[in-house]
Amino acid sequence: VKILTVTPEIAPFIKVGGLADVVGALPKALNQLGHDVRVLCPLYGSINRGHDWACFDMPFCVPMGPGAHWARIWETLLPNSNVRCYFLEFDEYFARNEVYEGPWGDHYDNDRRFAFLSRAAIELCEYLNWIPDLIHCHDWATAFVPVLLNTVYQNTPLSRVASVLTIHNLDHQGYCDRSVLHYVGLPDSVMTPDNCESMGAVSMLKGGIYHATKVTTVSESYAREIQTPEGGSGLHNVLKFRAADLVGIINGIDTHVWTPKTDILLPAHYSLENLSGKSLCKQSLIQEFGLEETPARPIIGIVSRLYSQKGLDLLQHILPRILTSMEVNFVVLGSGDKQLEGAFTYYAERYRGRFGLHLGFSESLAHSIYAGADFFLMPSRFEPCGLGQLYAMTYGTLPIVRSTGGLIDTVEQYREGLGWGTGFRFDYPTCDALYFAIGWACSTYYDRPHDMQKLIKNGMRKDFSWLHAAKRYEQVFKWAVDERLRL
Ligand code: ADP
Ligand code: GLC
Repeated sequence: VKILTVTPEIAPFIKVGGLADVVGALPKALNQLGHDVRVLCPLYGSINRGHDWACFDMPFCVPMGPGAHWARIWETLLPNSNVRCYFLEFDEYFARNEVYEGPWGDHYDNDRRFAFLSRAAIELCEYLNWIPDLIHCHDWATAFVPVLLNTVYQNTPLSRVASVLTIHNLDHQGYCDRSVLHYVGLPDSVMTPDNCESMGAVSMLKGGIYHATKVTTVSESYAREIQTPEGGSGLHNVLKFRAADLVGIINGIDTHVWTPKTDILLPAHYSLENLSGKSLCKQSLIQEFGLEETPARPIIGIVSRLYSQKGLDLLQHILPRILTSMEVNFVVLGSGDKQLEGAFTYYAERYRGRFGLHLGFSESLAHSIYAGADFFLMPSRFEPCGLGQLYAMTYGTLPIVRSTGGLIDTVEQYREGLGWGTGFRFDYPTCDALYFAIGWACSTYYDRPHDMQKLIKNGMRKDFSWLHAAKRYEQVFKWAVDERLRL
């Protein structure tokens, strides 16, 4: 199958969250299964172009509602693969360093920026003279692709191109003013409730869900949750309407990058057979975060965007209670909500040596935490899949997670005394539930070291590679292509 993947972010070039990791790895796995996969992403100001980048000579014309936009296309390969990656250069929209938001919040023109990306993706096929069988879109930022294919491109050769929309996070929908329709060249007829309209405005994601040939999301539990009023962020009825075409596929991880055996960002390496390097990683983490030199005390690591989805405000409320009643230290890497950043900064001062904090984004510190911590905390309110817990288990670090979405599907509950499971799960997003889950993990560390060792090994033995998921995507893509050709 010929597949064009369109994405607002892709690792290792530009990353905000797990979407980038997924798009940086899935095309490689599909490529290994024999598919011709290519990727399109915007060329942001913060992307460094290496020696192996080439720019197409011919300018790239994208017809938009009010007139044409002239852009340029760059090409390089996704590292460790033959997957071609195209980058869309259009400085008015993408020269800024950040993907979605700057220091003052979301970019004011996000709707136009990503509507433009969606239209450019379709035009790119003609420009390259390479018509894919399918376009794989990710999240609201590319959700106009299926809408455009079914309307503006209806009577063109591109109308035979199938579309698959993968939902990574239903909370972000590209909710915007209807003027975006005229801007991208969509007809007014899409402005109905069973199309792109939502509460008098436009929901780009809703339109994508209606129009995509197939819809996927990143775990089976999340696929079920988003069809309920509690988990559907207002779109549960649309998702129920598309239920027959909605498939949950759990994410994998890029095992080239994420393995404690060879990870170049770690001070020492280790494996299931020989875990001794993990204590060196812990020692180095203690120094990196300026913690007290107490290697016998467990460390709980957090690597996260600091937003309400991730439930870390619960930790904020109970941190003093934890630190005064349990022998445990924390290291936190993340950024986001200013109130939470402020609270954590206060704690880092107040509990110096026990609560280590780094505000910001750092790939190398993230790896240090996955390897050097004993536990990894994700008390998410909702979690479509979650990659942090997968990295943690791969690095022999036990996840403490709330039972939601992909966390249910990937973390097996610990059975005390038997040493079964791969981590600690709790049900309710409350301070008490979190406090007791952390207490349970700590008591296991001190009182049941034998179980700890078993859990670590159970997690490290799991195969989270992309191969299984890529085969499921392959199946969905085949269904989508066949269905489109039958139309
Ligand atoms: P989400 O995509 O919702 O943020 P995931 O768990 O799927 O959650 O993926 C998060 C990804 O982003 C992981 O690769 C994680 O290591 C990375 N990450 C999150 N915050 C940071 C940070 N501050 N620095 C480095 N990496 C981060
Ligand atoms: C989103 C979700 C996260 C998921 C990631 C990759 O950002 O919040 O749960 O793992 O996408 O699919």
